[in-house]
Amino acid sequence: MIASLLFLSQASLTKAAITHCPSIITPLPSLRKLASLDFEAVRSVDANGATLDFPLQAFTALVNRTKITSLSLVDTQLSSLDKDLFFQFSGLKELRLSRCGLQRIDVNAFAPLMRDVSPGNPFDAGFAKLTVGGNDKLTVFPWDVLLPVSKTLETVSIESNSNLVSVAFSPNSPTTMSLPSVVSLTVTGNSALKLIPADVLDTLHYKKSAVAEALPVLFNLSVVFTNNGNACDDCQGLSSLSAWARAGTVNSEDRYLDFACSRDAAGNAPEQATGTTEFWRQYVEPRTCRAVETSTTAASGTSTLAVWNSAGFILLALIPGALVLHR
Ligand SMILES: *[C@@H]1O[C@H](CO)[C@@H](O)[C@H](O)[C@H]1NC(C)=O
Ligand SMILES: *[C@@H]1O[C@H](CO)[C@@H](O)[C@H](O)[C@H]1NC(C)=O
Repeated sequence: MIASLLFLSQASLTKAAITHCPSIITPLPSLRKLASLDFEAVRSVDANGATLDFPLQAFTALVNRTKITSLSLVDTQLSSLDKDLFFQFSGLKELRLSRCGLQRIDVNAFAPLMRDVSPGNPFDAGFAKLTVGGNDKLTVFPWDVLLPVSKTLETVSIESNSNLVSVAFSPNSPTTMSLPSVVSLTVTGNSALKLIPADVLDTLHYKKSAVAEALPVLFNLSVVFTNNGNACDDCQGLSSLSAWARAGTVNSEDRYLDFACSRDAAGNAPEQATGTTEFWRQYVEPRTCRAVETSTTAASGTSTLAVWNSAGFILLALIPGALVLHR
């Protein structure tokens, strides 16, 4: 069995429970071609049945982590992104953290993802895509956490984190940060979030290459800020975003903004404004922004969990459906 596993390129662990003493985890075997890891509804529990954070490092101790390009944790507890959590995941291009019960993000959490990329080599593009969604205990997203991956990052999604109140630089953050490759920031469904501050938006200034300028529809910088906690009557969220969109350069650095505010106390009619730099330059901010239906994204159902007496991968493989391995 192990021999055939050596050629797997993707491993998914779904709806499983690991009972462990953190010291006796049976790690994934060393799969030579492994490039993608998905963990969904994996629950780690201690001897008393209390849920523990998923032991990512211990579980991947035998894996050559530098070869993993995609890592996804969904419905799998990770209360804190510590600075060592992604140790050696230096080849990562894509990271998804959905409904992980995330409470805290260390500003150095993504430092292990940084690496020198070869310019002009499309196969060595560096870390590009981050999704943080459905983490209802997360209150602060420190924008400077992106500094180590700032040269290569392309898309950021911050979605449905119901208690998120701040997407901002942390107090001791660097004075300047630039995200020149980001083409898309999506901030949606965060029902407590009222705005994105101007200094965060200023880090976004993707500039089309000369070649891309000839293809106006394909490449632009897009920011989506919808279904968040900005009530329509204060227009606070709107002013930093519209100022950012207006500051684009119509051809080479066009900025696309999709904005909506949420229902205010007066229950005014919905308003949503969408367009590029040219549109926003002509846009007249309403004195009282009108309301839009706030759609709440329901968290998906919880999975059925079983608890085993001892730890590890081999045991999990005996449970039908617990471990899905793709070629
Ligand atoms: C891990 O993968 C990298 C990149 O392919 C390679 O250079 C390195 O030798 C590998 N390490 C081990 C211990 O196999
Ligand atoms: C900019 O991007 C948005 C979203 O990706 C797209 O809908 C729009 O058509 C683009 N506009 C231009 C002028 O490139």
